[in-house]
Amino acid sequence: MNRHRRLLLKAILAGVAINPLFNRLAFAGEFAETIYRKIPGSNETLPLVGLGTYRVFDVGSNAGELQGPSEVLSVLSKVQNAMVDTSPMYGNAERVLGDVVAELGVRNHVFLATKVWTHGREAGIEQMNRSFQLLRTDRIDLMQIHNLVDWQTHIRTLREWKEQGRIRYIGITHYHDGAHRELARIMRSEAPDFIQINYSPAEPEAENTLLPLASERGIAVIVNRPFARGSLFRAVRGNKLPKWAGELDIHSWAQFFLKWIVSHPSVSVAIPATSRKQHMRDNLGAALGRLPDEAQRQRMFAYLSDIL
Ligand SMILES: NC(=O)c1ccc[n+]([C@@H]2O[C@H](COP(=O)([O-])OP(=O)(O)OC[C@H]3O[C@@H](n4cnc5c(N)ncnc54)[C@H](OP(=O)(O)O)[C@@H]3O)[C@@H](O)[C@H]2O)c1
Repeated sequence: MNRHRRLLLKAILAGVAINPLFNRLAFAGEFAETIYRKIPGSNETLPLVGLGTYRVFDVGSNAGELQGPSEVLSVLSKVQNAMVDTSPMYGNAERVLGDVVAELGVRNHVFLATKVWTHGREAGIEQMNRSFQLLRTDRIDLMQIHNLVDWQTHIRTLREWKEQGRIRYIGITHYHDGAHRELARIMRSEAPDFIQINYSPAEPEAENTLLPLASERGIAVIVNRPFARGSLFRAVRGNKLPKWAGELDIHSWAQFFLKWIVSHPSVSVAIPATSRKQHMRDNLGAALGRLPDEAQRQRMFAYLSDIL
């Protein structure tokens, strides 16, 4: 038995999460040292940075329009089990994602997350069945209730589907601080596997209640809007990174924002959206190298506060 197989077998016998090891064995290259975090209550790990598809995957089906999504996915799939998040709310995004994943043959490399976004049990079932078709898969890793829409109804269906193995995890999402109070109530009463929320240096509100609560309840946290929908880049335009950024292996503003986010111990993964492969590569770089500790996070926040 060669060394790689021996290591793999050893990891399986020890019952540890094998994704990082698998990544190193099968995905050698620029992202081989990607940092993973465990999904609470499971043996599965996710790379700290994934991908959002809002707007950027809502394109037509000719080769020119598919080029951006295809190149982005091809970079992302160099990292094993990276999360891609979509929704029936995002126009053509589910179809484009399904087509590109099939075309590249990377279904087993990505962690697929989508959502239900409608009212009523039957309408929810119909919409989710359509997502399976569009995503061209018989297994959706994470099904989330989008923006809390009719969550009391859908959560029952999701529990049944999880039981049946059609989905692996259940989540609930929102993008605005105004919904945090209700999210906290649901986290206490329903204990979903994942929440997906807005969190960034421009929107740090989740630190007060949701992030500590997620750790307390063993709930995984997906961070949406990590760049406040791109507005963080506009806010720092013309400003240089601090000299000490290099000590944290930060080489761009995107990595500065993302490292600040994913170094919060309650955060499982951040899902920046991009239509450009060079930005995907840049974003994945935030899951490499040194991460800031609490004192360094505060220093980063203070530096940004002087600019923003
Ligand atoms: N309620 C919900 O469930 C909910 C709500 C909001 C968002 N989300 C999810 O979260 C994802 C992310 O949020 P978002 O799309 O609103 O915004 P975002 O990720 O905060 O920002 C996206 C913007 O940042 C730019 N960008 C990405 N990487 C960059 C880089 N390295 N350098 C410079 N610019 C970069 C993108 O432009 P380029 O294309 O030029 O890279 C795009 O304009 C969504 O796509 C969606 O999947 C979910």
